Amino acid sequence: MTDQTITSVSRESRVFKPSAEFKAQANLGSEATYKRLYAESVNSPAKFWGRQATELLTWRKPFSKVLDWKAPHAKWFTGGTLNVAENCLDRHLGTARENKAAIIFEGEPGDITTLTYKQLHREVCKFANVLDSLDVGKGDRVAIYMPMVPEAAIAMLACARVGAIHTVIFGGFSSEAIKDRVNDCQAKLVITADGSWRRGKVVELKASVDRALEGTPSVQHVIVLKRTATEVSMTAPRDRWWHDVMTGAKAEHKAKAFGSEHPLFILYTSGSTGKPKGVLHTSGGYLLGTTITTKYIFDLKENDIYWCTADVGWITGHSYVVYGPLSCGATVMMYEGAPNHPAPDRFWDIIDRHGVTIFYTAPTAIRAFMRWGDDYVKKYSLKSLRLLGSVGEPINPEAWMWYHTLIGKKRCPIVDTWWQTETGAIMVSPLPGVTPTKPGSCTRPFFGVVPKILDDNGKEVPKGSGGRLFLMQPWPSMLRTLWGDDSRYKKQYWSEIKGVYFAGDGARFDKDGYLWVVGRIDDVLNVSGHRIGTAEVESALVSHPAVAEAAVVGRPDEIKGQGLVCFVTLKSDQKPTEELKQALRGHVAKEIGAIARPDEVRFAAGLPKTRSGKIMRRILKEIAAGGAIKGDTTTLEDFNVVASLQSEG
Ligand code: WTA
Repeated sequence: MTDQTITSVSRESRVFKPSAEFKAQANLGSEATYKRLYAESVNSPAKFWGRQATELLTWRKPFSKVLDWKAPHAKWFTGGTLNVAENCLDRHLGTARENKAAIIFEGEPGDITTLTYKQLHREVCKFANVLDSLDVGKGDRVAIYMPMVPEAAIAMLACARVGAIHTVIFGGFSSEAIKDRVNDCQAKLVITADGSWRRGKVVELKASVDRALEGTPSVQHVIVLKRTATEVSMTAPRDRWWHDVMTGAKAEHKAKAFGSEHPLFILYTSGSTGKPKGVLHTSGGYLLGTTITTKYIFDLKENDIYWCTADVGWITGHSYVVYGPLSCGATVMMYEGAPNHPAPDRFWDIIDRHGVTIFYTAPTAIRAFMRWGDDYVKKYSLKSLRLLGSVGEPINPEAWMWYHTLIGKKRCPIVDTWWQTETGAIMVSPLPGVTPTKPGSCTRPFFGVVPKILDDNGKEVPKGSGGRLFLMQPWPSMLRTLWGDDSRYKKQYWSEIKGVYFAGDGARFDKDGYLWVVGRIDDVLNVSGHRIGTAEVESALVSHPAVAEAAVVGRPDEIKGQGLVCFVTLKSDQKPTEELKQALRGHVAKEIGAIARPDEVRFAAGLPKTRSGKIMRRILKEIAAGGAIKGDTTTLEDFNVVASLQSEG
């Protein structure tokens, strides 16, 4: 093994076959069909995607060409026009779906609202009329900074309906983050709320917007939803209440059709360094990617109650709370608040009370539940569940097994879905009912996706060896550019190997051709000439019975290049002793090999995370190296965690 490949050390070998029962009812339940369609999708993409786009979407004007690819710029379904909101709403009216619940909402305080497709359509039409009246239309940018409430989806869909480009800013971001994003895309309108509920407290959204708007000259109007009845300051005539503008708005709205490549949204995502990147997605291709993956990967059925716990502020909330499931006519569960409010059983309680059948969440949440203890789960039957999903980071086998056993009761397939803000839709995932799963592997590519693992010279590495993950062919839901910065787009994603998409992740294929993503390439360490995925060391640590969560970073080491520093939080009944530190170092060496023996283990009360739950390794690296925290900390959930890590140093 040279230092051009990543030493991959996971020893997971369990395989879980789909049950005959699940297979029999699956939307795509045969290996032969998967193989045939996959081959067609990569060998004759125009034929495959042309057919899918015609079958799965409703076009006003049919497209004339499936793909126009001048690397790295793709145009999908050119000549075609459609309206994305119409695909998510209008086309379900006049069918058996029209009086079916589109959104079942539960607020953190316990309030429940259900909107049928007909009712959701009505609200979206009214809000689209409001946008028209404010002269917000085709190509205008609208920032949405909202709680996880139905009005967030209504605002997004109304923008889509009038052709405005939304940029949803996660409701936990600071006013600095709002200001940067609003200025970058020159938003004309901001849609927000007085506040949102989080662990019984009010997060003051309007106050953050007010601070941000001191430095955002492009903003002409602010619409404010009353959610928490918190006192806010309203600046006339800029600021208007949602309920005021909606009163008297007409419930009929004639939607215009837009070109397939009309921009649908910008979503800012942070690189490991530098200012956030405004990932741009467009209409036809994005909607097709999210629709087809929802149908086959979540095996969506007419009577499912589908719950993706992601906030609409993230790509998962765009693709798998709003666009994919509504385009498929699903019933979407939406929950406003924290998973541990009023107690750590809130999610399981929601699943039992609402009869949730499909549940899609993140490994960081699963590990939190593990930490809180099994008793919170065991009070509930969870018998409505039939499919589980995971997204956002590699899921460590221990968490996978816990999810499989305690939540899925060994009955539900788990789809571990690999994708990115940039890919728009799921790229690599098991197909439930078809693909045997292995804990920790996202398994095989979805239709049209050609992943390859290449070394630093662009050569494909042998199976079993690690390297960098590339996608060799364009796909419909791919990002089109970075807003206002096409040169960064080219450099970031397409310059490693010309014309080929660089995902920025380290990964390997195993002997069965299963993909194992080890994490971002910048989270990959080089220890004595071997690259080691920090996620794998973390997974080894978490497999120790005393450990709740772990984050591993590199620190410069004169001899080895990089040394491994592990930040570990312990289960609540464990004591942080020197002995335990040594035991953990030994445990990692045993699980992975002496090469990965941590140089240092530090116990911590908490780990610094973004609000989406990603551990901010950059900060831990700085702490491990003993330096001051430099760079942007605005995306950090709780700065106190950092302060205490430094003082424990
Ligand atoms: C990581 C979230 C392993 C990966 C949809 C990717 C994963 C980044 C998985 C994108 C998975 C996401 N297994 N790693 N199933 N899903 N990732 O843009 O490093 O927030 O590049 O999109 O998350 O994160 P993003």
